[in-house]
Amino acid sequence: MLSREHVLLSDRRKFLHQLSAGAIGLIAVSCRGRFALAAEENRLLVHSKSPMNAEPPLADLVKSWVTPVESFFIRSHGNTPQVDETGYRLSVEGLVESPLSLSLAELARFEQHSVTATITCAGNRRSEHSRIKPVKGVQWGAGAIGNAKWGGVRLVDLLKKAGVRESARHVWFEGLDSVEDGGKTFAFGGSIPVEKVLAATSSASCPLIATAMNDKPLSADHGFPVRSLVPGYIGARSVKWLSKIVLADRPSPNHFVADVYKLVESGDLLEVAEAGPIYRMPLNSVICSLAAKSDRADVTGYILPPGVPGVSIRKVEISADEGQSWIEAKLTAPAVEFCWQLWSAEVAIKSTTKELLVRATDSRGESQPQTPRWNAKGYLFNGWHRMPVNR
Ligand code: MTE
Repeated sequence: MLSREHVLLSDRRKFLHQLSAGAIGLIAVSCRGRFALAAEENRLLVHSKSPMNAEPPLADLVKSWVTPVESFFIRSHGNTPQVDETGYRLSVEGLVESPLSLSLAELARFEQHSVTATITCAGNRRSEHSRIKPVKGVQWGAGAIGNAKWGGVRLVDLLKKAGVRESARHVWFEGLDSVEDGGKTFAFGGSIPVEKVLAATSSASCPLIATAMNDKPLSADHGFPVRSLVPGYIGARSVKWLSKIVLADRPSPNHFVADVYKLVESGDLLEVAEAGPIYRMPLNSVICSLAAKSDRADVTGYILPPGVPGVSIRKVEISADEGQSWIEAKLTAPAVEFCWQLWSAEVAIKSTTKELLVRATDSRGESQPQTPRWNAKGYLFNGWHRMPVNR
């Protein structure tokens, strides 16, 4: 019988293999020294422990539509605060009629809602970005994504209670963590246009002030006791260990809105200052498992619709011949706005087939690019994903 250590080690080998499927030898080799096994209690593969950055092996991701917490990626820029729930308060301030300061018990008195939504990091698949030209930052494989059932209070209900002033245009979020950058220490922050909250058209698109993940209180890694949850937007706008919500007439000046999470080519100061913050995730699809027999391969994966209201998935296709011909995969999970879907396909292969490719098309007829435009921070990679065929 295999010991747990053996199982994790074999997961790690598979993971490095999966990562190298999308990354150049250089990345996979340089990762070998940096990756450590995750703690016993979860099955994640750790990029760094402090700050904690970890992702699951891809094959674990497609085991269920709702991702168990143990398999949910963790992306933190600073420490993981251990928040004392008795002294915790969430403030709502800025351009509001009546500022609020709410304890957890007071938050629990607002009507409770749940939203199933996918969170993905803007840097997901960065290792593939680095294959075009190396970029700095955590060299994520394709596992910096997960789909959970989030429970809590609708942000719109808090804003209604506080009374949003006419001049408010943006909602800022601030966490309780400490991030060190460029010799300074500050809290992580995010911000979203106020319309994302006030003009949400479906319950699936309502930003939430979440206290629960998959029917349990948030874990410390995922933001205990409270985080924002913004469906369709990059994960950086879903701020963990939330302490403050500020209504303002402009986007937050926080480093992670003003300087980071922008699409830039040179990354020089003027270009960064001129670029707007990233909000929406693009259409994406990934192969998560591939089992090849002599002339067939069974493949599964995930597909993420773009963060554009009302846009869904039209099709997901697999190619065994470098994109010359494609067969359509079967969608195997429900279609919920801003949520991933899972897919599976049986593909004919030849003895010479080296790789399978996946690409998706959305309901507007837009497809993923074969290779997306390179950007200096390695965000939003959504080129055709490849996985080697190993017999
Ligand atoms: N919130 C705080 N306070 N600090 C952080 O470092 N990271 C953000 C976001 N919220 C972050 C944060 C990023 S970049 C992502 S992708 C998501 O949290 C990841 O959420 P998760 O760790 O629960 O998967």
